[in-house]
Amino acid sequence: MLQPIVHVLGARPNFVKAAPVISALSDAEQTVIHTGQHYDERMSEIFFRELGLPEPDVNLEVGSGSHAAQTAAIMIGLEPEFTKRSPGLVIVYGDVNSTIAAALVAAKMGIPVAHVEAGLRSFDMTMPEEVNRRLTDQLSSLCFVTSPEAIGHLANEGVPVDRVHFVGNPMIDTLLKNLDTFDSERVRAAYELPDRYVLATLHRPANVDSPRIAGELVRRLHEIADLADLIIPLHPRGRPVLMAAGLDDHPRVRVLDPLGYIDFIAAVRGAAAIVTDSGGIQEETTILGVPCLTVRPNTERPI
Ligand code: UD1
Repeated sequence: MLQPIVHVLGARPNFVKAAPVISALSDAEQTVIHTGQHYDERMSEIFFRELGLPEPDVNLEVGSGSHAAQTAAIMIGLEPEFTKRSPGLVIVYGDVNSTIAAALVAAKMGIPVAHVEAGLRSFDMTMPEEVNRRLTDQLSSLCFVTSPEAIGHLANEGVPVDRVHFVGNPMIDTLLKNLDTFDSERVRAAYELPDRYVLATLHRPANVDSPRIAGELVRRLHEIADLADLIIPLHPRGRPVLMAAGLDDHPRVRVLDPLGYIDFIAAVRGAAAIVTDSGGIQEETTILGVPCLTVRPNTERPI
């Protein structure tokens, strides 16, 4: 029996990174397991449709929970799937809880793991993603790096050099492949956006979980809105705390639901500037040439 390559996807940024990898491996036997970490139409399904991702073979439907509960549920769901399918390789993406959960299960079953977007480091262990990144890299037989400094980070952590492959950035491959579809004028009309606007996204726990910090950020965002219209497609994580802090109590602030990939990047492309705590958007704005102000004390993506 052919041993399939199993891709484990869970959260929004995974989908964008996996699309070109799955497409490049189309001649191989492949299985896609969606953990269900993200489950809303706007956080998950629209990305599968727009990026031409195959329908997942399995959806574990783990949903939301504390880090331990979510990671554990993914592990418990994956183990029987890996046993049944006996993969030759498990490919994991980025730094989300689904990434570390899959790497841990596969490594203990003796299944080789490939980590796409290995070696990025913020050196901030208060970020759950940094914990996930470091541990996933230690468990991976193949570390596919997107940025040259990642090679040094992995070497410093004792990852043998023959496991590390500098392959470029699949999130940017997706961006460039879809460049012609990012029509900022269409999105401006569809969402009735003004000619000149700043677009903001916030979802990181350090920014949106504490009412005090969220309140301070809302004050700063209102200062930006004094100068330019501010459009905020809001991730569900931060919505209750940011709205309670009065996010949309300003005539030039507009809060939207999360956007799909095509509309979101088109809106980024048409913006005067971006304010964000996302990792990926820092890289996407760099390619699009849109100024990006990053609301974090550090970045794992200096490139
Ligand atoms: C996760 C990733 C983060 C990534 C982000 C992208 C981890 C540790 N974090 O953070 O690195 O930047 O995804 O979006 O894996 N929710 C919904 N619908 C959904 C998904 C989530 O309403 O489809 C809400 C739930 O209230 C949930 C909260 O968002 O409790 C947080 O979701 P979770 O997957 O735990 O983490 P994210 O903040 O999305």
